This record gives sequence, C-alpha cells and structure tokens, in this order.
Amino acid sequence: MLGARWQALRRCAALPRAVRLRVRQALGAREPAAAVKVQGWVRSVRSQKEVLFLHINDGSSLENLQVVADPSLENRDLTFGSAVEVEGKLVKSPHSMQNMELKAETIRVVGPCDTWSFPLKMKKRHPLEYIRQFPHLRCRSSTLSSLLRIRSEATAAIHSFFQDNGYVHIHTPIITSNDCEGAGELFQIETSNEAKESAEKTHFFNVPAFLTVSGQLHLEVMAGAFTHVFTFGPTFRAENSQSRRHLAEFYMVEAELSFIESLQDVMQVMEDLFKTATSTVLSKCPHDVELFHKYIAPTQKTKDRLEQMLKNKFVTISYNEAVEILKQASQTFTFKPEWGCDLQTEHEKYLVKHCGEVPVFVINFPYDLKPFYMRDNEDGPQHTVAAVDLLVPGIGELCGGSLREERLRFLESRLQRLGLTDAYQWYLDLRKFGSVPHGGFGMGFERYLQYILGVDNIKDVIPFPRFSHSCLL
Ligand code: 4AD
Ligand code: MG
Repeated sequence: MLGARWQALRRCAALPRAVRLRVRQALGAREPAAAVKVQGWVRSVRSQKEVLFLHINDGSSLENLQVVADPSLENRDLTFGSAVEVEGKLVKSPHSMQNMELKAETIRVVGPCDTWSFPLKMKKRHPLEYIRQFPHLRCRSSTLSSLLRIRSEATAAIHSFFQDNGYVHIHTPIITSNDCEGAGELFQIETSNEAKESAEKTHFFNVPAFLTVSGQLHLEVMAGAFTHVFTFGPTFRAENSQSRRHLAEFYMVEAELSFIESLQDVMQVMEDLFKTATSTVLSKCPHDVELFHKYIAPTQKTKDRLEQMLKNKFVTISYNEAVEILKQASQTFTFKPEWGCDLQTEHEKYLVKHCGEVPVFVINFPYDLKPFYMRDNEDGPQHTVAAVDLLVPGIGELCGGSLREERLRFLESRLQRLGLTDAYQWYLDLRKFGSVPHGGFGMGFERYLQYILGVDNIKDVIPFPRFSHSCLL
C-alpha cells in the first residue's frame, strides 16, 4: 500500500509543475518556457478549422495574451467573459504585434459566463455612459480596466512625490466635528438608533459628528511638529450637484508646509506635484493612457496639451486681473463677473482659454469669499486673503490652497466675528504655542484624473459610480 503511494508521489515529483504567470509577465517574457499556467477572463474566442484562438486578460495589462490551442480543446463553456485556467508552453509569437503566445495543452473553464445576458459584448468598445449602468461589471471592460490601473499608478506616484521630498504621511480622521470649509456641505453621522429618535438627540460622540470635508485642520495640527506633512484620503461633500465635476465622495490630496515665506512656496509644490505625478503616470502606463487619448478624448488634443503643460511654467494672475479679463470678454456669461463674487465654472474656463489653454493660478481672493483660516493680505481693511486656486483646461478648479492666518490677534478677531471662538479654541492654541507662517493646498484626485485623461464626466474616473440613489453599491 505504502509502496503504491510512494510510486504515485515520485511520479508527481518527476512531472514539471506549471509556473503561474500573470498575463503581463507572460507578454514580457524574454525566453520561451515550458509548463506555464495563466489564469484570467476570456476577452475573445475565435475557432477555426485547424486552430482555436483565445485572448485572455487578468487585469495586469491592457494587452491580452493570445492562447493558441487545438480545436479539440474547445468546449461550449469557453465563451467571452468566462474565467479560465490555461496550461501549456510559452513560445515566441510569429506575429509582429505580440512578443509571446501560449500554446495550450489544457484549458479549464473555472467559471462559465452566459454571453447572452452578460451586458458586455465581445470586441465592442462600449461607450462610458453605457457601462456606467453596470457598476459591478464595468471593470471587465478595457476602458475601465485601464482607468483603474492608471488610478492605482497615480496614487502611488503622488505618495512617492511626497515621500521623496521628505513629507510625513498623516492619516487624518474621516469622522470629525469640524467644518473646515465653513460651507455647510456636511454629511452628519448618527447611529441608526439616533436616526430613529430624532427628538432630544444624544450624540454618540456627545457632539454632532460629520464626514470630513477636508483634512486640512488636522494637517495644520501636525504642521506644528513636522515641517512637511500630507494626507490623501476620502473626502465628502453634501453638494447636491449632478455636475460633471462634483462627487459626494471623492479623494483629496492635501499638503501643509511650515516655515514658508510666501504663497509662491505653496504654488511651487502644487506645480511640482502635478508635473511629477503626471510624468510618472505617462511613463508607467503609456498604453492605458493612450487608450483614453485615442478613443475617449480624441478631439480634445489631451496628449499635446499635457506635453506642453509639462514643459512650460504655469501662468499666474490675480483675482483682480481675472475679474478685469472677464469684464472685458466679448462672451456673455450666465453669472455677470463682479469683484467680490465667486468665479463660476464658466468664468474659470474662459480664464484658462484667455491664457492659452494652460494651467492658471488665480491668487489673492476677496476676504469675504474665503474661509476663516486664510491669511489677511492687509491690502485694505479685510480686503483680500493669500488664497490660490489652480484652474486647468476643460475642468476649471483643480486645486485650492492658501497661506494660513498664523497671527493669533487676526485669527481671534475673525473667529469672534463669525461666532466660532468656542468651537475653535484648540485651533487658537496652535497660534499660541510656537506658531509659524505656514500654508498648504488640496487637489481633487478625480478632477486630476479627468484632466490628464480628457474624461468629461467625473463618474467615469471612480471605481464605483453611484448612478442612481437606488444603487448605493
Ligand atoms: O477648494 P477646496 O474646497 O479646498 C479645501 O478643502 C482646502 N481645505 C484644501 C487645503 O487647503 N488643504 O477643495 C480642494 C479641491 C478642489 O479644488 C477640487 O479639485 C476638489 O478638491 N473638490 C471636489 N472634487 C470632486 N467633487 C467635489 N464635490 C469636490 N469638491 C472639491
Ligand atoms: Mg476651492
């Protein structure tokens, strides 16, 4: 009995065990290899008299791996969308378009796919609006698959930029009691019991709690001990806007720098981050980016625009100049440009066009337009603050930042006028104990992706679109 088992074990040991390769590794292999295993989903099946061709994708690259098999390996479950495991030999491909292909010895269908009811169809480039209806399946399309790889590389590039420049990454809280921007666009949090007993509420945290609208104030705490800090996390805004550039849940990259001399120092970091992250993404996933530039935004000349942007210095204009440019515009705006009013998207787009379709910093906004933490420029009684918005073609505002009011006296009187003194005692403490000139900014990650890829609707750059209120996947 033992002898027979031993013989069986020996036979197993003598057989070469298949080495599992990702599609990307198989495509990039320099040498042929026997006994290779590849797992993935079928992107196309073509059956000919003498040969069966499959294309397999496992999310590791835009390019599929071609599998060549004897027609006897065909089986009726081997359809577009099915999950398969293929074992065989990796060989040089006779076709100039690809480096390697897999000569199948066995094909196992791990998970069949009913092609009739599967919403994606073979060899069809579905429009983004169509696949948005299937948030649970759209990652299986080439376009979303590319987007998600780019998103992943861009995230890593942003982290690397800060780490390489000596910033400390801080996990700022998601649940907080402050409204950093003061715009009242808050989602309040309560336990399910609290939601039921709406009268005479006792809060879980004793005070009302919200989902964060920005990690800035928490970063400012840290900027009292670390000269360079950043955070990159989920951010929530209850703006009831169905626009193509607003989300209720999005990711924001924020940085805070201590011991700076001017707003220029903050703008330099914004520009460096933008250019470094973009160059990295372009070099790490050129094919994925090309798919967007070629098929999703071909008319917008996104590629040329990006190349120009990387070479040239961003333009800077003041808010005063911006209003003058808008007032002299031949275009009529829905919102009449007026000093003291917010720049609307139509204004932002006009300013970018006026400056030659390049990124534009607008600086020094009216005091009354901006949140309490921004530094008074002292160019008149509460006239302007040291704020900056970065506007980019096709999108409008991509980043917002400022110098922070580090002078206790100024901050105290502003908070008093707003009736916020009690709530922000802790923030005033930061100005009592070792206060330094500091500033920072926030960049919307989804708007960044929209800009570099030329995507019109922000819902197409997130992993899970909430296309209707009945589907909170
Ligand atoms: O301009 P915002 O409101 O700035 C702040 O929150 C500052 N506290 C940041 C800081 O200085 N640390 O937001 C920053 C950026 C915007 O420029 C925009 O790109 C993005 O966040 N953003 C949104 N992106 C998608 N959907 C929304 N609803 C957004 N609201 C803001
Ligand atoms: Mg802003």
